Amino acid sequence: MDTTHPREMCKDLADARAVSSKLQGAALRRPFEAVIFDLDGVLVDTAEYHYQAWKKIADELGVPFDRQKNERLRGVPRMRSLEIIVEDMASKPPDLEALAEKKNHLYVEMIQRLTPADLLPGVRPLLAALKRGRIRMAVGSSSKNARTVLDRLGIAALFEAIVDGYGFQRAKPAPDIFLNAAHLLKVAPACCVVIEDAASGIEAAKAAGMFAVGIAREHPLPGADWTVRTISEVPVSLWGLPPDHMEKMEP
Ligand code: BG6
Ligand code: MG
Repeated sequence: MDTTHPREMCKDLADARAVSSKLQGAALRRPFEAVIFDLDGVLVDTAEYHYQAWKKIADELGVPFDRQKNERLRGVPRMRSLEIIVEDMASKPPDLEALAEKKNHLYVEMIQRLTPADLLPGVRPLLAALKRGRIRMAVGSSSKNARTVLDRLGIAALFEAIVDGYGFQRAKPAPDIFLNAAHLLKVAPACCVVIEDAASGIEAAKAAGMFAVGIAREHPLPGADWTVRTISEVPVSLWGLPPDHMEKMEP
C-alpha cells in the first residue's frame, strides 16, 4: 500500500512530466485537492463581451483594435487593458479613467443578459462532478464584475472562495490572486489545479506553484502543464476521481 501523504503527492504531481505519465494510468487517489477557476473565457464566454465593449471604445477613438490584439487583454485588468489599446496613439486621450468607466458601463449592460444557460459547454457537469467528489473549489478572476457574473450564472454558491478584481495587490501574471484563493481554501498551492484561458493566468498559476490547465481554443498557451481545447476535456482523474465519475453526472 502506498502511504505517501496527499500533500507530498501533490508536490510530486505538480511536476508536469510526472502528471502526463501518471494520468494515463488512471490509478490516482485524489492527487490534487482543489481547483481554482478563472472566470472570463473559462466558465462563461464573457471574454467576447469584454472584446465588444473595448471595440466600441477603440472605434470611437479611431484606434485599430481587432480580435488578435484582444488576445493580449485576456486576464488583464481594466486600466492596463486600456493602456494596451491606446499604446500606438501618438497623442493619448486625456481622460483614460473616464474611458475605462465608459467601457465598464457597456460591459455591465451586456452581462445583465447572462443566465445559467450561458455556462460554457462542459462547465456544469465538471462543477457537479467536482462538488460531488468534495473537491474544494474557488474562482480567481481579475474582474471587478466577477461576483455579478457568477450570480447571473447561478453558480456563486458552489465556490468556497471567490477572489475577484478587488482581492489582490498585483495582477496576473503575479501569483497573488491564486495564492489568495488557496489561502482562503486552506489548501497548499502545490495541491491546487488552476484552469485558465489566458497566457497571463498560466504564468500566474505557475508562479504560485500550482498545476496549470490551459484552455487553448485557437491560440496555444505555452507554459501550461496540460492543454485542452474545451473545459469538457479536463480529466477528473487530476483530482483522483474515476473517469466514470463524470458519466454519472447530468449533462
Ligand atoms: C479579466 C478579463 O477576467 O478581467 C479581462 O479576462 C478584463 O479581459 C479583466 O479586463 C477586468 O475586468 P473588469 O470587469 O474588472 O473590467
Ligand atoms: Mg480568462
